[in-house]
Amino acid sequence: MFQGRAARVLFFDSGMGGLSVFTKTAKLNANASYYYLFDHEGFPYGNKSEEYLQHRVKNLLDRACSIIKPDVIVVACNTASTTVLPIIREAIDTPIVGVVPAIKPAAKISKNKSIVLLATPGTCSRAYTNFLINEFAYDCKVMRIGSEDLVRLAEDALLSACQQRMTYEEFCQKACDMVKLKEILEPIWSCHGPKAPDAVVLGCTHFPLLKEQISTILGPKIHLIDSGEAVARRVKAILEAGYQQTMHADLKTDEESVLEHEDLLAAEEIIHVPGLSDAEVFTSGAKVAVYTGTCSQDERNKMESTFSYFHFRELLSFDELSKEH
Ligand code: DGL
Repeated sequence: MFQGRAARVLFFDSGMGGLSVFTKTAKLNANASYYYLFDHEGFPYGNKSEEYLQHRVKNLLDRACSIIKPDVIVVACNTASTTVLPIIREAIDTPIVGVVPAIKPAAKISKNKSIVLLATPGTCSRAYTNFLINEFAYDCKVMRIGSEDLVRLAEDALLSACQQRMTYEEFCQKACDMVKLKEILEPIWSCHGPKAPDAVVLGCTHFPLLKEQISTILGPKIHLIDSGEAVARRVKAILEAGYQQTMHADLKTDEESVLEHEDLLAAEEIIHVPGLSDAEVFTSGAKVAVYTGTCSQDERNKMESTFSYFHFRELLSFDELSKEH
């Protein structure tokens, strides 16, 4: 409980990628209520300008916050987090947890001192990403692969697998085009020798959805690292601090909800843990998914199947949500 009711956590992503972070967070914070807002209308984000994203994400979150009144917001999107966090933290008076590429743990774990950042083209080119690399991976060779195709592959694989009610095993074996995936990952698996990369940062929340398939192609010697677990722990700390505040008003609980790079070290623990098998998430609070814009009946069916796979009770358009409240 949080201030006498279930805590409300608002997730945000352009599409389905944030579900890879949601599963980890909901497992660790099962008493909360979850809202998952995704920018169906603006998807994909990987090729959009920083100005567009800053304006759009701030506006969407502003509107969503006035309706949902969340206790914590998770920007479950690296492409957005690496550019919008300072602006939305300035504008919105709610703790915000961002998701940024786990460069530091990757650099630490790499024995060959050679890592890969697999992300969207936007994330790969950000000043913030340069900062992370210069600060934490200065002793490593860093290969950047910015792929919009991989985002599409993951989004489509999840949506159609859920619509076809595939089991997790079926999802791993046949939901995505492995030939295409192998092509995208070619710059990684074609490297050999002592300077070949041995750690890959999954710097887009869509990519952990295909963790199992990526691992099948790259093999067990290459570590796959994402930020999901660290984010889940960060949300837990914020919610607990909020809860304590209601119990002991004098406790200092003004948590700066910046995702500390130290938190990301924890990501080491989740290497090779498949993302989607976590979908059996049961929480005691409500779970509502909300999309921007409009969608065709076919898209809606796919989205409904996907969110029901993750045990969401409702799928609403942003307009429907606004009317309901
Ligand atoms: N899931 C997002 C990320 O973490 C964005 C994918 C996209 O819309 O391009 O970067």
